[in-house]
Amino acid sequence: MTASLWSSVGKKILMSLSGFLMLGFLIGHMLGNLPLLQMETSVDAYNAYSHFLVSLGGLLVLVELILLAGLLLHVWTAIGIVRGKKRARPVKYHKLRSAGGTSRQTLGSRTMIYTGIVLLVFVVVHIKTFKYGPGSQGEKEYTSVVNGVEMRDLHKLVMETFQDPVYVGFYAIAMVLLGLHLSHAIWSAFQSIGFYHPRYTPVLYTGGRVLAFLIAAGFFIVPVWIYFMGGDL
Ligand code: HEM
Repeated sequence: MTASLWSSVGKKILMSLSGFLMLGFLIGHMLGNLPLLQMETSVDAYNAYSHFLVSLGGLLVLVELILLAGLLLHVWTAIGIVRGKKRARPVKYHKLRSAGGTSRQTLGSRTMIYTGIVLLVFVVVHIKTFKYGPGSQGEKEYTSVVNGVEMRDLHKLVMETFQDPVYVGFYAIAMVLLGLHLSHAIWSAFQSIGFYHPRYTPVLYTGGRVLAFLIAAGFFIVPVWIYFMGGDL
């Protein structure tokens, strides 16, 4: 069992399972951030939501550790798979194109490792900006009171951050790459865990791409909207 998990098929399964874990987080995180589109109307609700998550304490830390373990497993298996491919085919093919028919080679599938690297950098910058950014040490300027409870004013930080065109640009590019990464990842993860059905596989392929688009678009719209609509906040 141990040996088979380390094999290339085993690695793909681990990569898919860790990918599903992060996909679940991404859907929840994207939906949790959509209320920001309501701008100032969402201040208290957004801060209260984030405060509720933080007040979960040990449970939140546990979920964060599980997610971190999933991310590390995903990166580790990706490195293993790329190395394995290089060993198997040291000289690159001249032309990369879809083999046609049932082949699913796309821009997304060929650029997984590159989009993945950019997304990894994005996540590190993103967590530093928000989770460990202004207000994380209880600074007064980033404190708000909702229903008599003092909490971090994360809404203010998000609004301020997305007034910076460099950050919004970086964000927008990262979200396009997220869409590209997921457009291949979701469908491919089902394949890797052995799901195949002549009727449902094509549905899953299209469904995976639609879901990838919705997730990326849901994240993309928030910073762009705040940048253009939030100048006077
Ligand atoms: C509209 C886009 C996004 C907004 C406004 C946003 C906002 C935030 C905020 C405010 C936090 C800090 C939460 C807190 O400290 O309580 C956070 C955490 C986080 N975000 Fe995002 N995020 C966005 C997109 C993304 C994307 C695309 C990813 C992954 C590819 C991501 C991954 C994370 C992770 C892993 C955390 C840390 C969660 C934790 O440790 O509890 N976010 N995000």
